[in-house]
Order: sequence, then C-alpha cells, then structure tokens
Amino acid sequence: MRIGILSSGGDCPGINAAIRGVGKTAITHYGMEVIGLQGGFLGLLNKDTILLDDYALSGILNLGGTILGTSREKPFRKQLEDDSKPQIIEETYKELGLDCLVCIGGNGTQKTAYKLSELGLNIIGIPKTIDNDVWGTDVTFGFDTAVDIATDAIDRLHSTASSHSRVMVIELMGHHAGWITLHSGMAGGADIILLPELGFDMDVITQAVLARGEKGKRYSIVAVAEGVNIGEENLKKYKHPASYIAEKIEELTGVESRETVLGYVQRGGNPSAFDRILATRLGAHATELIAKKDFGRMVCFKNDEITSTPLHKVAGKLKLVEADNDLILQGKRMGISFGR
Ligand code: F6P
Repeated sequence: MRIGILSSGGDCPGINAAIRGVGKTAITHYGMEVIGLQGGFLGLLNKDTILLDDYALSGILNLGGTILGTSREKPFRKQLEDDSKPQIIEETYKELGLDCLVCIGGNGTQKTAYKLSELGLNIIGIPKTIDNDVWGTDVTFGFDTAVDIATDAIDRLHSTASSHSRVMVIELMGHHAGWITLHSGMAGGADIILLPELGFDMDVITQAVLARGEKGKRYSIVAVAEGVNIGEENLKKYKHPASYIAEKIEELTGVESRETVLGYVQRGGNPSAFDRILATRLGAHATELIAKKDFGRMVCFKNDEITSTPLHKVAGKLKLVEADNDLILQGKRMGISFGR
C-alpha cells in the first residue's frame, strides 16, 4: 500500500512523533510506502510531496513543529470564483496512487478529512492541537507540553508579582476553549481563572483581588483565556482580553496591574514525554486501521485506551470545558475565583 501524510492547522509539539509513529509502523511492520504532503492540504493542491523513508523518519521524535510544514488551507471553503479545490485534491490523490491519506490536525482538519472521505477517498484522521478541543478524544497531543510551558510562565510571574505587590494577568491560548488556562491556572496556583465557557463578571474579579489584599496577600495572579468575551468594542481597542482585564482591575481596585500575553511559545519546542507517547501510539494505531482498510475514522484516546471513532461523528464539533468540570469544582472549594 502507498499512504500519504499531511499536517494541517496550527503546529503543535508531537506532530513529528505522530508522523514517525505512522511511517515507521507502515514501513517496518506492513511494508507500505509512505509519502508526505507539504504544507497541509496545499501539498495536495500543489502536488508538493516528499518521500518519507526510514531515513527521513529518523531523529524527529523529539522535534517540535512539523517536518511536513502546515497551513490553514481549507479546500472546502467556498472561493469567490473557484470551487475546484476538492476535485484537484481527488485527482492528486489518484495520480499519486494513494491507498489512504492520513490527516493530522485539529477540528478544522478533521472536518475537511470527513468531507474528503465523503468524496470517496480513504482517510484516517489523527487529532492534534495544544487547545485540547477536538471532540471524540479525551486529550490531544500538544496540550500537555503547552500546559507545562504555561505553568512555568505562571510560576515565574509569582516572584515578580510578589516583589512589586502587583496583579499579574496572563493570557493563554486555546481559541474558544479554556483547557490550557484551566489546567495551567490550577497547576500554577492562579488566584483567578477566567474561561470563555464561563464568562466573567468584573465585580467578582474586583472583590476577589480586594479580598486577598484584606487577608494580607500582597499580590494576585489572574489566568485568562484568549477566547474570553470582552465585547467587540473592547477587543478592537485592547486587542487582548488580558490588557482590558489588567486595566480594569487597576482602575477598580487601585492595585497596580500588568498583563503578559504568552503567545506562540506555548506551541513551540520539544514535546513532553507524555505527548511523544500519545502521538506515537495514535500514529501506530492509524497505520493499523489502514492495514485493516478500516477508513473514515479518527484515532483517539478514550478512557485510557487508544481506539478510533467515525469521522462523521467528530466533524463540526468542539470539546469545550464544562461548568461542572472537576478541576473547576475543586478549585472553587479551595477559594479560587472563576470570575462568576
Ligand atoms: O489552535 C492552536 C492555536 O495556537 C490557538 O490556540 C490560537 O488561537 C491559534 O492557534 C493561533 O492561530 P494562528 O497560528 O493562525 O495565529
């Protein structure tokens, strides 16, 4: 068999481990041939390929980013004049003699993967993203590494916040989901954690900061998700929720406040051991499905097991933090404010 692999959407630590997991299993155990499509779905549109032999797959397990490159190309997005992309992809798939295409990506990628499988292509999806918001899997690789990086940043803010008796507001990635903020906020000992799924009330935040001051605590740490809704006008003016919240806290409490927008360091660099293992296992399982010709599925991690779920169940859905998440309940009992 001849299989193609691509990575699409935002990069994250662990993609190379997944490519290696798919490729080495395919070559060594099943005797398949593996090619990489470069730059996500652009690789299929431009016939931009590389051979992924055993040599190309060596030395990439601990490498961040993706050796295949990535893009946010969405071939099914309606173009103004040209809707031919899905057809071009179908033709390239046939021209390259592929028996299956492995799509490593987040929600958008899994939706495209589903649409391609509806066109009759043999597709396997592998979920990846630091945001941890892919429906159908308990955890995505990239998330653990991002939480470690964000936690380290929060740890570092404690000492400078304490020295200056300031409120430090740190903004974490996650798109519409609050997973990174919830986990790193709890791991880093944030005093206030603001998630898009819960929203926030400025009065509650003000009271939480003042109450800490009354207890003799001279500083506070606020972890805020980039997706928190501060209103369109405020977003236009402040660009980042953290900037708006820091300014409001200072205005309403009189406590000097600063913001830090952590940004892309959260998804750069080497994957954690957990992410390497998860990505390797998902990659190897993807190849197993291909060998069994069990196409149209996304491999996933459910209840401590590597398994798979049909792409049609995943497409178009998001996995968000729920209000009764155990970490939120435990946090509230410990006196952490969730801004509500
Ligand atoms: O999906 C991963 C992610 O890093 C999100 O957390 C963030 O909102 C987005 O990608 C940033 O995307 P881009 O790379 O297009 O700026």
